[in-house]
Amino acid sequence: MADNGKKIYVLHIVGARPNFMKAAPVMRALARYPELSQKLVHTGQHYDANMSEIFFRQLGLPAPDFNLEVGSGSHAWQTAQIMMRFEEIVLQKRPNLVLVYGDVNSTVAAALVCAKLGIPVGHVEAGLRSFDRTMPEEINRLITDQIADLLFTPSQDGNDNLIGEGVAPEKIHLVGNVMIDTLVHLLPSVNGRCRQELHLEPKKFALVTLHRPSNVDDRERFAAILKTLDTISRNLTCVFPVHPRTRARLQEWDLAIPDESRLRLLEPLGYLDFLGLMQEAALVITDSGGIQEETTFLGIPCLTLRKNTERPITVEVGTNILVGEDLEHLENETQAILNGTGKTGGVPPLWDGKTGERITKVILEFHYMANI
Ligand code: UD1
Repeated sequence: MADNGKKIYVLHIVGARPNFMKAAPVMRALARYPELSQKLVHTGQHYDANMSEIFFRQLGLPAPDFNLEVGSGSHAWQTAQIMMRFEEIVLQKRPNLVLVYGDVNSTVAAALVCAKLGIPVGHVEAGLRSFDRTMPEEINRLITDQIADLLFTPSQDGNDNLIGEGVAPEKIHLVGNVMIDTLVHLLPSVNGRCRQELHLEPKKFALVTLHRPSNVDDRERFAAILKTLDTISRNLTCVFPVHPRTRARLQEWDLAIPDESRLRLLEPLGYLDFLGLMQEAALVITDSGGIQEETTFLGIPCLTLRKNTERPITVEVGTNILVGEDLEHLENETQAILNGTGKTGGVPPLWDGKTGERITKVILEFHYMANI
């Protein structure tokens, strides 16, 4: 309890697909402590049912207490809308702590609002750096970490980056990877149903996801990637659940897929179906952040179509390989995996399903220390 006998009020902010699997285990852990009360704000950055609603259901997230319904727009517009609408809620509710997740526009917008109102902010998944400031997420990470009061890092490199940027060590807490909590929690519910419905044999297909502006917002680059995927699919069927932004580019540029029976485009999948496919894939080709971590945990080879990663531990310890911009490299690494000479890997420390619990303990300590 707080000094005045009231519960400690924590507000969680989520907005985009990768936030949902990070907030769920923290909410579950907080719910075990009667001295804590919590509410959930959805900014509405992602709004399609298959980008949002299905995740709430499968992850066991409660319906949001507040929905800001901001939708899509330019970065400035989206960030500003979230700030204006979220500020009203913070002023009304005066939470003791606001928890923000990951690196999306909703994360930085909510952190900025709180910093200006003097409300403590905790950042879950702090300290990750790609050192590439052309990525919108890198800007979001840098700013959020400078203004947050509690920084929850998934791995030691996160601590090192924050210390290097002058963040006070007492704010930094190495708690492990919260996304792995969700994976561990839901793995028993995952099955081969989706794979069977798609008539795929285990380990006889590649799972593909792409949505980064650097890959899909440049016509030539995107067309070249599709051509390489087509080549790969001659030996290995490729299954590609298509993100809305990627779908929009495909349509805008009228990019043709030579043979959709080999390179199969799907609508975005729910968490359980996606995980089911990942677990049984021969390999994963992606530009996502979270998928680099999930494949490392599952020991599935991952080829990342990026020049850099904010998750270097997945390369150092795990199964991830950065193939950069070189599409020939992608083809060669795919072949190596198919030949049985691909990279293997281990699981980083504290990626054990207990990160939500560790975060909760830090929150309680922080509150008591602040009120002594
Ligand atoms: C956002 C995050 C990115 C994260 C990704 C996961 C930022 C800066 N980026 O990128 O870090 O990896 O989510 O999905 O916050 N759209 C829909 N329906 C939706 C959501 C989006 O059609 O439910 C379309 C809209 O046309 C929109 C575009 O997708 O303009 C991009 O959405 P947005 O949330 O701005 O960024 P993402 O590319 O999804």
